[in-house]
Amino acid sequence: MNLYDRIPNNVNLSEDKKLQRALEKWLPNYLDWWREMGPEGFQEKDVWLRTAIDVGSEGWAHFDYVKMPEYRWGIFLEPPQPDAKVGFGDNLGKPAYQEVPGEFRNALRRIIVTQGDTEPASVEQQRQLGKTCPSLYDLRNLFQVNVEEGRHLWAMVYLLHGYFGRDGRDEADELLERRSGNPDKPRILEAFNQPCDDWLNFFAFTMFTDRDGKYQLSALAESGFEPLARTCQFMLTEEAHHMFVGDTGLGRVARRTAQLMKQGDVRELGGIPLDIIQKYINFWFSYSLDLFGGEISSNSADFFAAGLKGRYKERDQYTEHTAANQMFTMTVIEDSKLTTREVPLRNALNEVLRGEYVKDCEKGLARWNKVLADEGVSERLYLPNPRFHRHVGEYAGHTFDIEGNLISREEFERRKDEWLPTMDDREYVRSLMHPVVEPGKIANWIAPPAAGIKGKPFEFEYVRL
Ligand SMILES: [Fe+2]
Ligand SMILES: [Fe+2]
Repeated sequence: MNLYDRIPNNVNLSEDKKLQRALEKWLPNYLDWWREMGPEGFQEKDVWLRTAIDVGSEGWAHFDYVKMPEYRWGIFLEPPQPDAKVGFGDNLGKPAYQEVPGEFRNALRRIIVTQGDTEPASVEQQRQLGKTCPSLYDLRNLFQVNVEEGRHLWAMVYLLHGYFGRDGRDEADELLERRSGNPDKPRILEAFNQPCDDWLNFFAFTMFTDRDGKYQLSALAESGFEPLARTCQFMLTEEAHHMFVGDTGLGRVARRTAQLMKQGDVRELGGIPLDIIQKYINFWFSYSLDLFGGEISSNSADFFAAGLKGRYKERDQYTEHTAANQMFTMTVIEDSKLTTREVPLRNALNEVLRGEYVKDCEKGLARWNKVLADEGVSERLYLPNPRFHRHVGEYAGHTFDIEGNLISREEFERRKDEWLPTMDDREYVRSLMHPVVEPGKIANWIAPPAAGIKGKPFEFEYVRL
């Protein structure tokens, strides 16, 4: 582990002078981007952050005060497996690829660029949130997520520089040029152009949108292109914390809302009504489902056949790894009616991965509903039907109610305020967002966490202001 190099890494960067020079040229541009688009107003503050100092699931992190621009952004890959093999598809059992297979060069670059683009995008989306943090604990968690998304950008840029030559270097530059929500140079995926300007959005984003990241990275973590697999494996260990922030964040909001419901009118008491929480869930869940791509996809079939992108837990969860000559029953729309169609399994792998994601989200809903039950209120939160409010794939261009029934566009327009955040809802949530920065204090609309971070109490000074 070369932790104190200019670019900390465990890939022996100093032995590859060409790559090292290229990345050292990219570094100042990255820092310029971070200063311009990273968390606004906190760049010079000491934040109690974890930094990767090793790979592997045990003991990889070191906790200390760091100023964010001095964070050890670096390139950390899981160690190589001796005799790594392609784990699925047509080349099952052949030696893993150490170089990009020529015929998949463009497709693979696109996968890496699309993943890479989400990382800085989310930092941009969240850059104003520090100013309205509900507690120092939450402020620190926001910044932890932000610096790690920055490191994930490094991870993808390493692959682009290391394996895609000139095209890769150009793509790496463009990753610093696009801007979330900018009409002229937007980020690639729509969920990453949506504003994330209040903390309810932030928790829903880290719950639902970061969780898409978990599934995309998991599918790539077993890739036959070994450098990609090893990169994604380590990113997943960091990603778990981001979903923890979202999952427990929404759980804490639900808890506080339930407590206020027992006292009177939630709005009058300064809390977030349950129906607004539900609308934020509907919004971010539906946008995050789009990130998995079309239900029926020849790309997904090609990537799988090539051994590049597998299913979730391909190795442990499946015994048959070719997915060939099998069919999948898909709900589709024909003649303005929902019906089912048999499609080759390989063409349905986006939908298979999306199904795993939905199951995982349902567990979050069960946890929040347990909070509501524990607090003694009878209302419950739920996930909308996956057809609701979709902009990509089989259901895009059609309109569905929250239960997934096909409805007319007029009816959708008439009823959408029941299901999706309105301007008023968003303004109301924003009106509650006032910074609480005294150690141990917390905003009125959210419950404190069950525990602090890494054995520290909630009252700990997580950010020195
Ligand atoms: Fe990430
Ligand atoms: Fe993340």
